[in-house]
Amino acid sequence: MDFCEIARRWEPECRDALETVQIGGGAMLPSELLMFLALCFENRIELVVESGRKNGFSTEMLCSVGDWRVESVETHVIAEADARLASRYDERLTLRHGNGKLLVPTLIDTKKRTAVLLDGPKSTGANLLYPKIRDSIVFCGIHDVPLLGSEGGGDSRRASIANGVLYFTDDEKYLAAFGHYDRVWMDGSGYKSHGDFIKARCVLGIFPGGLWDVDR
Ligand SMILES: C[S@@+](CC[C@H](N)C(=O)[O-])C[C@H]1O[C@@H](n2cnc3c(N)ncnc32)[C@H](O)[C@@H]1O
Repeated sequence: MDFCEIARRWEPECRDALETVQIGGGAMLPSELLMFLALCFENRIELVVESGRKNGFSTEMLCSVGDWRVESVETHVIAEADARLASRYDERLTLRHGNGKLLVPTLIDTKKRTAVLLDGPKSTGANLLYPKIRDSIVFCGIHDVPLLGSEGGGDSRRASIANGVLYFTDDEKYLAAFGHYDRVWMDGSGYKSHGDFIKARCVLGIFPGGLWDVDR
C-alpha cells in the first residue's frame, strides 16, 4: 500500500481545511492530519473516535471534511474551545469529558466503519490501549511516536513496531510531498529546516484494525 499515493488522492478534499483551520497550542501537525483524513476517505470511514482534543485543532480538522460522525474525548476540557466546536459542528460532533483509556472502547460502534485517533493518551499509553480496540476498528492513528533513539522516544517507537505499525508520517518521501503544510507550525519555532523540525518533534503512527483491508 502506497500511503503517499493515498494522501495525494485525497489532498484536494483536505486542502482548504489544512490551509484555513487555526492551529492551537499543542496541536498535531497538519501533515499528520492529512494522512489520517486521507485514510478516512480511502477506507469509507463512518465514525471517528478521537481522544485528546485540547484546543480542538485536530477535532476541527476531523469535522471540516468528509461526512463521518466524530466522537471526541478530553480529560481536561477547555470550555472556550468546546463552545467554539459545539457552535460550528453540533450536527456531526459529540464532545465528551472523561478518560479516553476508559471511554474510547465504549464509543466504538461495531456497526460503523470506525477509525480512532489517539493524541492523549499518546505514545506508550496509546500503544497499550490500541490492542484493546484493534479488532473492532478499521485503523488507528497514534500521535507522538518519537523517533527511535530520540530522547525518551525509543520505547514508544519500539512499542509501535511491536504493535504492527504500518506507517510513520516522518517518512522522507511523505514529508517532501506534504511537509509544506507544517510551515505555519514551523514559523517562529527556531528550526532551520523541516527535517530538523520533524526530528525534534513527534509523528503519527498508523496501525491496522481488524477491519483493515490489507489487499487493497
Ligand atoms: C496534545 S493535546 C491534544 C491536541 C489536539 N489533538 C490537537 O491536535 O489539536 C493532548 C490532550 O490530551 C489530553 N489527554 C491526556 N490523556 C488523556 C486521556 N487519557 N483521555 C483523554 N484526554 C487525555 C490532555 O488533557 C491534552 O489536552
